[in-house]
Amino acid sequence: MRLTERTILVTGGGTGIGRALARQLAEKGNTVLVCGRRLNLLEETAKGASGIHPYRCDLTSSEDIRHMLDAIRSDGHRVDTLFSNAAILGFDSLAGGLDLAQAKKIIDANLFGPIELTQRMLDGLRETEDPAIVIVGSPAGLGPLANTPIYSSSKAGLHAYTLCLRHHLGGEVRVFEVFPPVVDTEMLATKKWKKMSPDECARRMLKGIERDQEQVWIGESKMFRFLQLVLPPGRLFGVVNDWSPPERE
Ligand SMILES: NC(=O)c1ccc[n+]([C@@H]2O[C@H](COP(=O)([O-])OP(=O)(O)OC[C@H]3O[C@@H](n4cnc5c(N)ncnc54)[C@H](OP(=O)(O)O)[C@@H]3O)[C@@H](O)[C@H]2O)c1
Repeated sequence: MRLTERTILVTGGGTGIGRALARQLAEKGNTVLVCGRRLNLLEETAKGASGIHPYRCDLTSSEDIRHMLDAIRSDGHRVDTLFSNAAILGFDSLAGGLDLAQAKKIIDANLFGPIELTQRMLDGLRETEDPAIVIVGSPAGLGPLANTPIYSSSKAGLHAYTLCLRHHLGGEVRVFEVFPPVVDTEMLATKKWKKMSPDECARRMLKGIERDQEQVWIGESKMFRFLQLVLPPGRLFGVVNDWSPPERE
């Protein structure tokens, strides 16, 4: 897919992979709108880059989503591409101590928020030329990680939604799904693992989309993909949870 001369909304564009995507997409000659809860970080993404416009929006709030879409329209932008990237991570135990309020926040931010935003944008996307939706998933949605059960559940739900969305839209809006590996962002700041840089991750995502790959598997996410294909579900869970990313030297 051509990734130039588009108007692209990147959720979670104030940090990490979203910021790298926004800047690379702007360099390719697109108009890029970035959203998130922290306006100062969105403004930092836009600093020094031409064609990046920040919009504050908490995706867990229907009101925020409606206000943002109204503001985008009244600023004269017609979005033809959505990069649904924002998410939060949570490490939880299910053995009695689950923080239910936090669990709901994760599901709202990672699953319901992206669904609501996508559904509210569909009519507008359909009116543009060659519209597309890119969903940033996680291998943890395919082989659930035992220490992030709610995050894994949200990403598994998002994967199911993505498959159904692609089916229902029947090519009218192209739907891509990208699976990052372990990436050096706020989300995993406390982990001393070897991590890919957000810039490299974004570069590979965009390359896969430009090559029309419906699913883009990056780095060790390819291993999850392979295991998912060859192992029965019971075995998959054990193997995935016995694996841990290599430590940084
Ligand atoms: N890092 C990894 O190793 C890794 C691996 C697999 C998949 N991923 C996926 O990659 C995507 C990007 O994550 P990242 O690694 O770049 O982490 P990150 O730096 O923490 O980025 C997440 C972004 O989402 C935004 N966000 C969170 N909750 C939001 C809400 N309610 N409304 C609007 N924006 C919200 C955050 O901004 P505010 O806090 O300002 O709202 C932040 O900019 C996520 O979908 C993640 O699941 C990451």
